Amino acid sequence: MYDRVYFDWSCDVLRGHLSEMYIPVDNNLSYTPKITWERVHVGAAYGTDMSDHRIAILPGDGTGREVAVEAMRILDTVQAHTNHGFEQVIIPCGGQHYKETGEEWAEGSFAFCRDEVDAIYLGAIGYPGARLPNGDLAGGSVILGMRYGLDLYANVRPIKLYEGVPHKVHGKFTQIWEPGMVDMTILRENTEGLYYSLLRRCADRALGREEYELPEMTFPGLEGEVAYDPRPISASGTERLVKMGFEISKTRKGAPVDGVSRVSCIDKSNVTKGCQLFRRVFDNVAESYPGIEKDYGYIDAFMQWLTRTPEFYDVVVSSNMFGDISTDLGAVLQGGMGMAASGNIGDTHAFFEPVHGSAPKHAGKNKVNPVASINSIQMMLDWLGRKNDEEELVMISKLIDDSVAEHLRDGKSLTYDLGGTATCSDVGESISNRLAMKLKEL
Ligand code: IPM
Ligand code: MG
Repeated sequence: MYDRVYFDWSCDVLRGHLSEMYIPVDNNLSYTPKITWERVHVGAAYGTDMSDHRIAILPGDGTGREVAVEAMRILDTVQAHTNHGFEQVIIPCGGQHYKETGEEWAEGSFAFCRDEVDAIYLGAIGYPGARLPNGDLAGGSVILGMRYGLDLYANVRPIKLYEGVPHKVHGKFTQIWEPGMVDMTILRENTEGLYYSLLRRCADRALGREEYELPEMTFPGLEGEVAYDPRPISASGTERLVKMGFEISKTRKGAPVDGVSRVSCIDKSNVTKGCQLFRRVFDNVAESYPGIEKDYGYIDAFMQWLTRTPEFYDVVVSSNMFGDISTDLGAVLQGGMGMAASGNIGDTHAFFEPVHGSAPKHAGKNKVNPVASINSIQMMLDWLGRKNDEEELVMISKLIDDSVAEHLRDGKSLTYDLGGTATCSDVGESISNRLAMKLKEL
């Protein structure tokens, strides 16, 4: 099933290349999305109205395409009921796109995302068997290329358990953690650490540069074939991440258990040099925030505390791979990956994505939970509002959060992962309708 998508770029590189094309919503799609993929709206001509924003929508692979529809629906809803307009530009990309076209995304897409949009939304990347000739993930230059190439050094992942959300354990739905006792934000360093060489290669591809090659190393005592990934951690990379962690703590209400503003440094400084540097820089930055408590933990022990006493945590800062792993566990506390939103944030650019991948086995069935995607748009509007001093956008983002909270508390329309039978679009529509009601009252 194909829908027609029109692009009306202002970016010369893309114009011509992609001026009109078809994208598959999903090859196996067995339902018809209620909104089509046509480019949506331009409230006022871009640039003539400060409240207008151009948003790149990168649906990507699998269920990413379905939840992107719900992200767009939220932007449409805000636009329909406020003076904030969103020009949504869809850019096909990902592993499936690579298999079909030989490109991870059209040439010029990276530059377009860098130079021509205010914020970026990404659905998910990952398609079975889609690998580049060198074995790297096809679609990597989209997700990892943007993380590194746009210098999005902080991967901000809120972990909050809403009322009405059960936990699926042993195949049953039970309330293990209590709502109100899980509300923290984990910041994962996003441009270095164990991902460094892959990030660098992906950004090189996105930018059309020659790909970075790891210098040859030998490891005395190891014989035969050896593969290795260096884990560079820099003082400057750590400093900016940790600073953002303390700044985010200032905007929050502290840890659920005691209301204390606290930043936890999670590392493995008993073992690795990179982590020793990370902790030293953390201590230096913390000196500028005397009103915020410092806390430390090793990543292995943190895995226990995160599950046993999540109420202790307000903001957590960690290196790249530790943040990747701990936020998947954190998602379990939130009710699963379908609830986990994120923002990849730098000083000038940002992209927002649900943390769950493309979930190929669920793709095309209109069944996955769109809350992570909707909350990623919530984070986007909060970020745009704070960045451009548009308080109303920050307020609208709170209304999105309220609409999600209300929908979940009501509990009548939940997707399978939360024990319900609602479809992805049912949930998206219900949350959008609640949001519309709130916006009408503004
Ligand atoms: C994530 C994902 C990605 C990562 C994959 C898709 C490369 O797991 O965003 O957490 O490892 O960063
Ligand atoms: Mg991950």
